[in-house]
Parts: sequence; structure tokens; C-alpha cells
Amino acid sequence: MSTTLITNIGSLVTNDPAQGDGTPLGLIEDAALVLDGDTVAWTGPAASAPAADASFDAQGRAVIPGFVDSHSHLVFAGDRTAEFNARMSGRSYSAGGIRTTVAATRAATDAELEANLLRHLDEARRQGTTTFETKSGYGLTVADEARALRIASAHTEEVTYLGAHIVSPDYADDPAGYVDLVTGEMLAACAPYARWVDVFCEKGAFDGDQARAILTAGAAAGLIPRVHANQLSYGPGVQLAVELEAASADHCTHLTDADVDALAQAAGTTVATLLPGAEFSTRAQWPDARRLLDAGATVALSTDCNPGSSYTSSMPFCIALAVRDMGMTPDEALWAATAGGARALRRTDIGRLAPGARADLALLDAPSHVHLAYRPGVPLVSAVWQRGVRAA
Ligand code: NIG
Ligand code: FE
Repeated sequence: MSTTLITNIGSLVTNDPAQGDGTPLGLIEDAALVLDGDTVAWTGPAASAPAADASFDAQGRAVIPGFVDSHSHLVFAGDRTAEFNARMSGRSYSAGGIRTTVAATRAATDAELEANLLRHLDEARRQGTTTFETKSGYGLTVADEARALRIASAHTEEVTYLGAHIVSPDYADDPAGYVDLVTGEMLAACAPYARWVDVFCEKGAFDGDQARAILTAGAAAGLIPRVHANQLSYGPGVQLAVELEAASADHCTHLTDADVDALAQAAGTTVATLLPGAEFSTRAQWPDARRLLDAGATVALSTDCNPGSSYTSSMPFCIALAVRDMGMTPDEALWAATAGGARALRRTDIGRLAPGARADLALLDAPSHVHLAYRPGVPLVSAVWQRGVRAA
């Protein structure tokens, strides 16, 4: 295995509070890092770096852990430009738009779906994302959901079964029959490809009782729950996520004090994953990250990349929104987009840069990670290593 020394790093975010400045970011100034194959072998001050087989001069720029995008919907076809245009002329977002993408996705070939997935992954990687979760949910038949997950599972370990995105149009008059399908035959066909089970718990999608049945059946099949919760309105999603020890409650836009308390109590189990791209693209109120952080909840940031409510693959964009509009500091937002995402995926090998961690990192054309929010919209990610290999 050959080693590479990345030296002359202006500031290195390790997310290891035992290192550097002692904050959660474990920031080391004038740092170096050694990669050994696909793993981080050493981090510390450049002055005491060990020798390595090869070296790379960071020229004073910042290095951060690769982003962990723990929530996306990338197996789809078509786009929804017209719907976005209508929204920007005053129409409001509704879950019903999902049906447009379902029709396009069903009509696409496997090769088209995979090519579309890869195009978005490349786009995300160039912006520093080194791990992504993605979901089914635009097939809504046994065969179409299973093929979405099969295609996704060739490109990520973090695959989520979302047969319960909306009630399939084929079951418009029989929602209970659709829940039976999602918890029965469809689950059996999908579980082999997935790690997680998710449900859109919302008016117009699935209510609390349906969501509980779907998540419980998924858990019985070995999948770990995560929930689309409290996105468009107040509702039972967050409480259900906490009750079922879901890995994350995602969106968390409309929260009561009791919801915030529940997430704070469950900080070690259920991560509040905030998806500001969705509020941007639907002109909705921002999730209140400050309120969650002050209460003690664990917060992650993610793109929710999908053609309807949040068509961005850019974690830097989400960081900028979270800092500008959701009350997060640049440090908190960076942590949430890296270590927070790892927590939401129950991973300890990613989202941090310390010996033994996976060598997933991004080099920024900036002296520190703060520039991600300070210089919004500027493509600051100038190099990416994924499992120790230069990937962008
Ligand atoms: O996370 N909320 C449900 N699902 C997606 C939206 C999907 C769509 O509009 O196509 C979301 O925002
Ligand atoms: Fe989503």
C-alpha cells in the first residue's frame, strides 16, 4: 500500500475534538495528513509530519472531510422545470408532483436511470460529496421499486426503500391495499438491496398509523427506519421517528416544542436532518436549526436532491443557506454536513479525518471551511479524494 502526504494545509477540519483546537471540528492550523491506501494514517501539524511515498502541496488551502449527503432521491427520470416555474409564479408545492416523476421513471430504461444517477453523482462529487444515501420512491410498483434499489446499490452502500413515497396512482382508490403491498410483496422484493426503510409521513402521503405499519414491517425485514417528517405541516412524523429509534427524522420544518424536546432526548439515536434546498425550491419557511441545536438535538445537513422539491446536489449551497437563514454558525454547518451526515447513517468510518478513518476528503480553494458560507455559489472545492483515490 503506498502512502501520500498532503502537506501545507492552511486549516484541517478533522471532526475529532481530541485533535487541534479542541472544538467539535478538531481544527488544526498549518496541518498535514497522510493517506495510506484508502485510509487516513496520520493527521497533525505539518512540522511533525512523517515521510511518505508521495506528496501533495495544499499551498495553504483548507482540507475538510468529504461531505456525507445522507438524504437524496437520485433514481429518477425526467425533470420538473414546469412545476418549478409555476411555483416561482406563486403556485405552492404539493406532494402530488411526485406522480410526474413516477410516470417518467417507469417509462425509462435501466440504462437511462443508471446514467442519470451517475450524472448526478459526478456532479455531487465535484462539489465535495464522497458518500451519498439515495432512495427509491419514483417507481411505486414491486418491479420498479426493486429495480431502482438494484441500480442504486451498485453505486452506494446507503440505499433506502421508499415504496411509501406517495400512494401509487394505481391504488388511488385503495390506499390500504397499497400499504399492504408496501409492507408485503414490495418489501420482500426490495429488502435485499436496501439498508434503510423510509416513509413520507405527511398529509397527502401517509398518516401516522400507516407510517408506523410501514416502518415496523421494514424493521422486521432487517431495515433501519428513517422518516420524511414534518416537512409541509405539523404532524406525527418526528414523534414516530423517535419512538421507533429511527436513524433520522428528515426535513423537521414544522416542529412543536414537544417535537424539539423529543429530538433532543433522542440526540444519540435519531438525527434531525435538515434539507434547506427543499425550502429554497418550494419557497417555504426555513427549518430552525438554532432551536434544535440549542435544545441539544444532533443536526445533519443534506441536499434532498430530487427533481421536484430540491434539485440541487450541492452540499456547499446547503451549508450557505443553513448559515444565512437557519441560525447555524459556519462551524456547526460544516460539522452537520460531514460528521452529522455520518451520524445519520450510523457510520463512524466517514465524516471525520483521523487515523483509521476512510480517506474521503475535499481540498478547498480557500484558507478555511468558513468560506463555504462566506463565498456562496463559488465553486471552492478544488480536489476530492475518495477512499484515498483522486476522484475530482
Ligand atoms: O423529500 N418529501 C417527499 N419527497 C421529496 C420530494 C419529492 C418530489 O417532489 O419529487 C422530498 O422533498
Ligand atoms: Fe426527501
